[in-house]
Amino acid sequence: MIERHHRDTRPRPSPRARGALVLTAVGLLAAAGAMVVPGSANAGTTLGASAAERGRYFGAAVAANKLGDSTYVTILNREFNSVTPENEMKIDATEPQQGVFTFANADRIVNHARSRGMSVRGHTLAWHSQQPGWMQNMSGSALRQAMLNHVTQVAAHYRGQVVAWDVVNEAFADGGSGARRDSNLQRTGNDWIEAAFRAARAADPGAKLCYNDYNTDDWTHAKTQAVYAMVRDFKQRGVPIDCVGFQSHFNSGSPYPGNYRTTLSSFAALGVDVQITELDIAGASPTTYRNVVNDCLAVSRCTGITVWGIRDSDSWRASDTPLLFDNGGNRKPAYDAVLAALNNGTPPPTSTPPPTTGPTTPPPGGSCTATLRDGTRWGDRFNSEVVVNGATSWTVVVAVTPPQKISATWNGSPSWDTSGNVMTMRSNGSGNVFGFTTMANGNWTRPQVRSCTAS
Ligand code: G3I
Repeated sequence: MIERHHRDTRPRPSPRARGALVLTAVGLLAAAGAMVVPGSANAGTTLGASAAERGRYFGAAVAANKLGDSTYVTILNREFNSVTPENEMKIDATEPQQGVFTFANADRIVNHARSRGMSVRGHTLAWHSQQPGWMQNMSGSALRQAMLNHVTQVAAHYRGQVVAWDVVNEAFADGGSGARRDSNLQRTGNDWIEAAFRAARAADPGAKLCYNDYNTDDWTHAKTQAVYAMVRDFKQRGVPIDCVGFQSHFNSGSPYPGNYRTTLSSFAALGVDVQITELDIAGASPTTYRNVVNDCLAVSRCTGITVWGIRDSDSWRASDTPLLFDNGGNRKPAYDAVLAALNNGTPPPTSTPPPTTGPTTPPPGGSCTATLRDGTRWGDRFNSEVVVNGATSWTVVVAVTPPQKISATWNGSPSWDTSGNVMTMRSNGSGNVFGFTTMANGNWTRPQVRSCTAS
């Protein structure tokens, strides 16, 4: 069963009464000498929260049979805000017999993710590999129809729950030919890919539709150029494609290329999002992980990064120790490099002089910057924090969207306009990060920072 967020139907206090409640809560917290708002935000200290601050997601491939492993789940829930089922949405898993669909394992992952505010990438609807026996034995128009029915049924089952689908996976050949990969699907006709995309769009019009492949990271490679030409053609002809996934399994035979950023930005310039969908790096070089993250951050349409597993022992290439956590679940140096890269954000172009350093606190009445970052999300409410830079004494105005209501605050002195939806927060000596909890009341729009004034 899919757990859904329900509108909060409990009676709500008036703005004035609610303001008093907030102030009471803040007073109690201050009196307690500790910040005890539930699940305080983790931005800046976890991969997902730091990526969110950059407008991206940070995801992991997840296996349903590991959701009972407490070390695994602890890391998943703490660090990641996007999930890709590693095998559970594939054709052999979801349609083991023709016309018989099994979604139990994939549903477990989707429910785990969505009930915790994580988004889900769907992987994958049409692929030459991991086909069930019945499909492997099909060809021609019967296979084409079976493939389209599979795309339709699976995308429809997850309509509204999957933010992006790898509609077609690995359809191009390796090597220098730039040709399509030979497969039973390819032999149904060259238009099988666009047919799959059209079926996916019809089944779930809200999902982003991606083409996903490996060895497409080096801009000079024939395979990369062939995928690029297909995407350009699709965009020109109106075939519904929204994104391209770069698996990015890097090792000595398929190393991280120095022109990776060029590849990402070139595809993005076609008018599609780009996503790093299955990242792992043999040996987990912190430098290479940092480079990958910085390349994504440098391309505004690079919307997120997924690592292909959590601990090294969870990897399909475990002996390469390619991931961010060791077998015991400890953070590796690569983890530290990724987190630091996410927290530093987009590096300036090399031709841009470094920002000037010096006093950052403007005179009273001057401006400061206030950046909102996402915190923990529950079924009915979510935390946000605001980081203020450029002033030690400040006033920040934040608005939430009705019928949202702010139910608690910390590390600042709040006041309210008559609507109760606009909060003016003043520094109270608790530092430069304040936070608040918003009751969603069915609306999950991010709060907006309206202004920051040094005082
Ligand atoms: O679960 C069964 C187990 O019951 C059985 O005893 C065992 C014996 O072979 O197999 C187990 O299933 C394996 C499954 O992984 C779960 O571990 C399959 O054999 C194995 O083929 C499967 O491998 C997956 C592989 O795709 C299949 O192509 C990997 O986990 C998965 O990480 C990998 O993911 C792919 C992406 O989908 C596409 N890009 C490349 C990437 C790496 O190959």
